[in-house]
Amino acid sequence: MDVVTGVEVRPVRANELRLLATDEVHFGLLRNRLNRRDAGHGELLAAWIGDVAVGHIFIWTDVAEEPEIRDNLAGVPLVMNLWVRDQFRHRGIGTELVRSAEKWLQEHGHRRVALGVSPHNKEAVRLYLRLLYDPWRYGDIKTEYEEFHDDGTSAGRVFEVCAVYVKELPGADGESERLSPVRDRAPIQTILTADPEPSSS
Ligand SMILES: CC(C)(COP(=O)(O)OP(=O)(O)OC[C@H]1O[C@@H](n2cnc3c(N)ncnc32)[C@H](O)[C@@H]1OP(=O)(O)O)[C@@H](O)C(=O)NCCC(=O)NCCS
Repeated sequence: MDVVTGVEVRPVRANELRLLATDEVHFGLLRNRLNRRDAGHGELLAAWIGDVAVGHIFIWTDVAEEPEIRDNLAGVPLVMNLWVRDQFRHRGIGTELVRSAEKWLQEHGHRRVALGVSPHNKEAVRLYLRLLYDPWRYGDIKTEYEEFHDDGTSAGRVFEVCAVYVKELPGADGESERLSPVRDRAPIQTILTADPEPSSS
């Protein structure tokens, strides 16, 4: 399970955005992420099967926008915008993208990574728990989901409640453990069946 063959994950080139994006809003998001990458604030990785772009993930190394994350996880990079094209899901590609982002971070000297996910997004939460992400102790936070014009500038923001998860990464020499070992199923079930905090938005 979770072994994908023929999938290549690598940084996105500017001329590949149209191959990844499903519509103009998606294109605007990717343009924004590439602009951030070009300004030295992260990396946008895409998964390819042959010449078909099947998914992406963004690594955010800039200061976090959310004050709770800035206060409690200062300097910790985030992974976000994990996405796999509908017809390519359940083949391990999402898992492979997260692992590739972790490897990139590890190679760039980071020892922790964090992310925000809607507590209602059970599939994504299962994936992160399986990859040994742990819910932080400060509860859910209010974040803003941003939409973009096709030049990557902001078209507006929508509030979203997110659960925050954190993972310790082994050192670049792999001293502690294999990167992204898979967790057994029992604790995942426990967390997923617990009702999320009611949203205050
Ligand atoms: C969340 C998302 C990225 C997962 O991508 P994915 O490629 O389907 O992820 P994976 O294939 O690695 O894992 C999904 C499931 O397929 C299973 N799977 C993996 N390889 C498999 C295979 N070869 N055969 C059968 N099942 C497989 C995994 O075990 C997992 O099962 P589970 O949900 O029961 O735990 C995808 O659903 C998505 O793009 N969703 C919309 C965007 C989104 O919500 N992103 C997260 C934002 S935080």
